[in-house]
Amino acid sequence: MSTLVPSSGRFPGGARPPRAGAHVWRAVVAAPVLGLTLLMGGCADPGDAVVNVYSHRHYDTDQALFDQFAEETGIQVRVVSASADELIARLEREGAASPADLLITVDAGRLHRAKERGLLQAVRSRELDAAVSEGLRDPEGYWYALTLRARIIAYARDRVDASELSTYENLTDERWRNRVLVRSSENIYNVSHLASIVAAHGPEVAESWARGIVANFARSPQGNDTDQIRDVAAGVGDVALVNTYYVGRLLNADDAASRELARQVGVFFPNQGGRGAHVNVSGAGVTAHAPNRANAIRLLEFLVGQEAQEAFAEANFEYPVRPGVPWAPTLQEWGEYRADPLDLSRLGELNDEAVRIFDRAGWR
Ligand SMILES: [Fe+2]
Repeated sequence: MSTLVPSSGRFPGGARPPRAGAHVWRAVVAAPVLGLTLLMGGCADPGDAVVNVYSHRHYDTDQALFDQFAEETGIQVRVVSASADELIARLEREGAASPADLLITVDAGRLHRAKERGLLQAVRSRELDAAVSEGLRDPEGYWYALTLRARIIAYARDRVDASELSTYENLTDERWRNRVLVRSSENIYNVSHLASIVAAHGPEVAESWARGIVANFARSPQGNDTDQIRDVAAGVGDVALVNTYYVGRLLNADDAASRELARQVGVFFPNQGGRGAHVNVSGAGVTAHAPNRANAIRLLEFLVGQEAQEAFAEANFEYPVRPGVPWAPTLQEWGEYRADPLDLSRLGELNDEAVRIFDRAGWR
């Protein structure tokens, strides 16, 4: 992945929503599916075709997709929703007795952490390799990206001219004193972003960058990415580091006030003349002790399939990982951009170092 340039004809009339299937918790199982399950020898009860998902994503889209998968395959999807850290702790606690088959979470750093702790297993399939390009999956197949997002500079249209913006590094310039909004360094998005700067420039430059951003804080870090965007619109600060889909959600919100607020904020993709904008993923990996391994792989293949990818792209304003899947209109309006081609597994490897740098730099 060097750039995210849609090929021509990539937007054939917008993405289609998934078929909104009824909740299908089937006891009846299609014969071929059952055969496959038995063959893999995983199921505790051979009468059930199930896949147990531990998910940090908690969007309506995801449930609609699980319903559709159940309808198409007869494999019931059971979901446990919690924070990523809780799910990882639970997997560790449960060990070989865990009922989980698939871990779905955000951030390559977390996926890497789950792999390092022995919570995932390597899987390979022609479909997965074709749907998810190298750099967006673990080299050994321990996890695969489902969606992609970029960390951009959201800026106040009335107080900042886009020509003043260039790179993440430039936000440490004196001209941005008391103007930069960003959430806490405890947040994994910031940890991974800093890890990408360590990868690009080494730890010393990364530390001086973190110190420079701290010096330019409009206020001490608080809230989530949506709060940073709202605070740009409210004039608390003038520029914010946030993930693309938070702006997309506000621009397409049901309430007019949120849409109006989001229109006051511009989206700028930094570092386009250099390494590109920092990107990260949500992704999934088959768990180390998956009792329903074959079903988990099948669900994973479904989630990177054309229809699911269109649904992700449309509903949550994330970039699909599958080549050729249309972007949501809002993303099309923002246009193509260069993404940092850094292998995302590096984000996880440099995670601990990034946390130590944030501590030294005083980024709370
Ligand atoms: Fe998020």
